[in-house]
Amino acid sequence: MDYSFFIEIILVLIPLYLANSSAMLLGGKTPIDLNQHFVDKKPFLGKGKTVKGTLFGISIGILAVLLIDFYFQGKVPIINNYLHYGILVSIGAILGDLIGSFLKRRMNIERGKPVLLLDQLDFVIVGILFGSLVHKVSVELFLLVCVITLIAHRIANFVAFKFKLKKVPW
Ligand code: CTP
Ligand code: MG
Repeated sequence: MDYSFFIEIILVLIPLYLANSSAMLLGGKTPIDLNQHFVDKKPFLGKGKTVKGTLFGISIGILAVLLIDFYFQGKVPIINNYLHYGILVSIGAILGDLIGSFLKRRMNIERGKPVLLLDQLDFVIVGILFGSLVHKVSVELFLLVCVITLIAHRIANFVAFKFKLKKVPW
């Protein structure tokens, strides 16, 4: 059994998920668009994208890959140059989430209103795209990461509902 595919997935998921979830958990108040509106008079990004969440998201993604790189003394298996890869994925993930909000506002969708697939996959797509400057993953791996993320999102929402952090289980 060759485990390298699984290790590669985990190495990709770590900066993706840590960056995205810490932006969510550590969001602040000051919106990154400073409440500015775009030419369509709609919010540029909206109040759901804050300076604190953005900076913490990128930082914690980078911190995670720094620790992994340190643990492996700079020789992380499968993904050569993992430190650079993880930094790019962390930045890309957070940027992807911002792009997602930018697109939602252009489509006249209010902050917090769900858009299936865009909400869950914006950070995955741009994160992996940025990472590909250093390490290209296969199409199979990319698709599997998308599927895992959609399932994880469902489970996370259900758990949040059970713990009464959310009013609806989706
Ligand atoms: N968050 C943040 N900064 C970011 C991304 C997220 O502060 N760059 C925090 C915000 O508190 C946000 C929460 O994480 O409300 C959830 O993120 P998300 O679901 O992406 O934002 P929404 O509030 O749903 O807004 P949008 O409609 O723009 O997606
Ligand atoms: Mg949202």
